[in-house]
Amino acid sequence: MTRVFSGIQPTGHLTLGNYLGAMRRWAEVDQHRADSVFCVVDLHALTVDHDPARVRRLSRQTATLLLAAGLDPEVCTVFLQSHVDEHTRLSYLLECVATDGEMRRMIQYKEKSAKERERGGSVRLSLLTYPVLMAADILAYGTDEVPVGHDQAQHVELARDLAVRFNQRYGYAFVVPKATLPQVAARVMNLQDPTSKMGKSDESGAGVVYLLDEPDVVRKKVMRAVTDSGRDVVYDRQEKPGLANLLEILAACEGRDPEELSGAYDSYGALKKDAADAVVEVLRPLQERHRELCADPAYVEGVLRAGAEKAREMARPTVDAAYRAIGLLAP
Ligand code: AMP
Ligand code: TRP
Repeated sequence: MTRVFSGIQPTGHLTLGNYLGAMRRWAEVDQHRADSVFCVVDLHALTVDHDPARVRRLSRQTATLLLAAGLDPEVCTVFLQSHVDEHTRLSYLLECVATDGEMRRMIQYKEKSAKERERGGSVRLSLLTYPVLMAADILAYGTDEVPVGHDQAQHVELARDLAVRFNQRYGYAFVVPKATLPQVAARVMNLQDPTSKMGKSDESGAGVVYLLDEPDVVRKKVMRAVTDSGRDVVYDRQEKPGLANLLEILAACEGRDPEELSGAYDSYGALKKDAADAVVEVLRPLQERHRELCADPAYVEGVLRAGAEKAREMARPTVDAAYRAIGLLAP
């Protein structure tokens, strides 16, 4: 059976980009057709300046939202990365296979480290090595497919390279994974700046729809989205990125095609209104389920505990075999 693995960082409140780019497919498609493993990657949240209490809170909230989005612990595995030691055990071996040049070429590292330096801060070493830990997350589970948004494609490519290199040097140890991207909404953009990604860590939040935003807040944010000059509703990511983003969001919410949708509108206002309604409707069941789950934190904790146990069992044989293959003696 196909093995699917994906992860999400507890570094901020989850956004519509997380949902349309990744989580929705995990819940609606992947968990039903593959042996799927989903992980709140809390260790990754320590690669940038962080507040311990906030990471704790967001780890719980992220796990709760994954369940609210429809991940079913009866059919898939959901857990916290730090509960399964195999991730860091394997990460070290992969650091011995990766090169520093490879790490410095990662787009996300270049962007995040430049931003940090601009602010006069220092860059944690773990920010540089983070794609290796991500590769370990993936390779430890014999993963075939990694459903992610567009921004993670380069990291998954690195995981592939490391798997191939390790297998060539030390004998077959890892399945070579591949990224799977959604057809629409692989890169949901910020509503106030459609040239940059809608991300959790945005400072103002005005252009970001959070999964727990109230309906009237969602409507306001979508209605105030920056659109492009002109009047024609056409789908053109280069020339009309604001409009294209709204068309993609609406298309993703309704399972339609953005190009085709553009023909149905003759004003920006009508498109915004329909996009706002569609987002509110997509979020409604998720928010309801989230409220229910918040009333039962012991249930969520139980799911995570059982998930970690299952995950450990899946990962240990692969990681142990890699330890032997690279030249370490069995204890
Ligand atoms: P992160 O928030 O970086 O932990 O991302 C978790 C998952 O959501 C990854 O698969 C990302 O590629 C995806 N994702 C995050 N932001 C967006 C976005 N704006 N559009 C599409 N996918 C996204
Ligand atoms: N780096 C990913 C992100 O920022 C999260 C992540 C960590 C991940 N480990 C992973 C995604 C393994 C897929 C597979 O979105």
